[in-house]
Amino acid sequence: MIGEKEFWGQGLGTEVIQRLSTFAFDEQGADLVFGCGMADYNPASLNAFQKAGYIVDAQIEQPVGKKARYCYDLVLTRAENTALGKGMPNQCLSPPTTSARHQ
Ligand SMILES: CC(C)(COP(=O)(O)OP(=O)(O)OC[C@H]1O[C@@H](n2cnc3c(N)ncnc32)[C@H](O)[C@@H]1OP(=O)(O)O)[C@@H](O)C(=O)NCCC(=O)NCCS
Repeated sequence: MIGEKEFWGQGLGTEVIQRLSTFAFDEQGADLVFGCGMADYNPASLNAFQKAGYIVDAQIEQPVGKKARYCYDLVLTRAENTALGKGMPNQCLSPPTTSARHQ
């Protein structure tokens, strides 16, 4: 969430999603990253994830009385992120650090 409305719609949300996704793949060794529970009344959020390469994994109908009729779970794969030129093709975890006590 970007707290200051004046910063909305400038591509920052998309960029943050891209950077965090690449961090998850390249630094954390994730194979898939999910963005869950995106409400249909929030097109900016849905668009930002889709611009970052995420695709809809599930469309979940909401109970009557909820503000949203549907919520969406989106997913990005490592391969797709790499194809977008955002990450490294292979898992590239940093070597484990050794605590000073074991050196
Ligand atoms: C959702 C949010 C993080 C998106 O970040 P952002 O920096 O505004 O998004 P971007 O500028 O990267 O825009 C992403 C896409 O959404 C589109 N978009 C932005 N606002 C939109 C709106 N109100 N309706 C439809 N599309 C919209 C943009 O046009 C852009 O697509 P485009 O480049 O093809 O035009 C930000 O708007 C925000 O913090 N909103 C309030 C809190 C919130 O909704 N949090 C998410 C809860 S799941």
